[in-house]
Amino acid sequence: MTYKEHHPNWSRKSKNEIDQIIELALDENINYRDSLMMGIPATHLDKQEFTHDAQLLDGSTFLKTLINNPNHIGIHTNMKQSEPYFSGTQKLEAQVIRIVSEDILLASPNSIDGYISSGGTEGNIQALWVYRNYFNDVYSLDQNYSSIAIVCSEDTHYSCDKASNLLNLKIVKIRVHEDTRAIDQNHLEEQLKRLRKKGISNLIVVCNMMTTMFGSVDNLDTYFDAINLFNYFKTKVHVDGAYGGFLHPFTKPDQPLTFKDSRISSFALDAHKMLQAPYGTGIFVITKGLLKYTITNSAQYVTGKDCTLIGSRSGANAISIFKILHNYGPIGWAEKVTRLVSRAETLKNELNRLGVRLIYFEGSNIITIHSSEMTTSLALKYGLVPDNHLKPNWYKIVVMDHVKAYKIQKFLKDFKLFKSQKYLKKDFTKSKSYRLGISPE
Ligand SMILES: Cc1ncc(COP(=O)(O)O)c(C=O)c1O
Repeated sequence: MTYKEHHPNWSRKSKNEIDQIIELALDENINYRDSLMMGIPATHLDKQEFTHDAQLLDGSTFLKTLINNPNHIGIHTNMKQSEPYFSGTQKLEAQVIRIVSEDILLASPNSIDGYISSGGTEGNIQALWVYRNYFNDVYSLDQNYSSIAIVCSEDTHYSCDKASNLLNLKIVKIRVHEDTRAIDQNHLEEQLKRLRKKGISNLIVVCNMMTTMFGSVDNLDTYFDAINLFNYFKTKVHVDGAYGGFLHPFTKPDQPLTFKDSRISSFALDAHKMLQAPYGTGIFVITKGLLKYTITNSAQYVTGKDCTLIGSRSGANAISIFKILHNYGPIGWAEKVTRLVSRAETLKNELNRLGVRLIYFEGSNIITIHSSEMTTSLALKYGLVPDNHLKPNWYKIVVMDHVKAYKIQKFLKDFKLFKSQKYLKKDFTKSKSYRLGISPE
């Protein structure tokens, strides 16, 4: 696989180079020890609990940033709107946003705003909050948002249900085909008809770039083929790439979910999943001009006010992403995720050879096996996650960094053994012998 060659903002750097950039950025931030600044309710981390020993910290500019404790409240893709005390590390955050939006998601230069959110949940809620207010402000709707609905597939992450609840927005889940996870066009059209009847004309479509359970990627054209039949709806599209954002664009370089598609105006990605950054490192990116719809005017003490959901947040999170991205560079990163996918493909091919009912999307590292092919004991032994803990239909294997080839081979060996032993094929806990208290061993 070759990855796109054009990377205006992203290159591999040596560890020394990366550390020097971060040291300079920290020097540009407020120096609590030597400066006279005393108006902001912020300081470095507690000295008794967290070492400030320069020699110990020398090995890690990430830990150094953590101890210096910069607050990245607000957004920094327009530095005029940023708190001045942390401008050094805020600029590195802005570089991360440019890499994600321009090098990975193909936006034109300087066309995107964004910030490091707490995770995919926040990115999704932030997007839906922006679009709710956008529809409300631009079309002067009633304040109970009754003409707006979130439209997404039934495989969409539950953070969109949280958003629906918090933002007082209806949510419409479109059925998917059981074994392909593709959106059911007939159900979509039925639901749109229903919405039109109810006078709901503003749709916020959440399009998945790899779902949590199946790694499936939605076809945005399926949504628009149906929406365009009506000549009635206004739409905004958010892409949930919390899981797939750092994988799918690399393993499927010609994939269409990018900012080049003018129907899409925002993405959520997580660095704390595939990128292996610490938790609290989501990324939210959105076309410039839209974040104004979530500016809180009463946030008068914050420079630039605040348009994010989270408020105060650690600048060290942005630094961790900056470090990882530059340590690999675009080619190194593509190589890394391709290796994971190739491990997943080996497993999928072997399971296919055994005729196992499974779901696998090309270029993905998730394999989802139907519960009829699985035993509870095998699922437990390998920590496979079910779609529903009470009534599992599917179990997934996610080939993350620690899921090495030898573990996959071990799983396959056990799986073949279980398959060849008939009584273990079914979920033993549901069998008559179990109810009668007879052990299968
Ligand atoms: C597709 C998708 N979206 C959103 C989320 C929520 O992300 P987080 O747990 O970082 O808030 C997840 C988490 O698994 C996810 O898989």
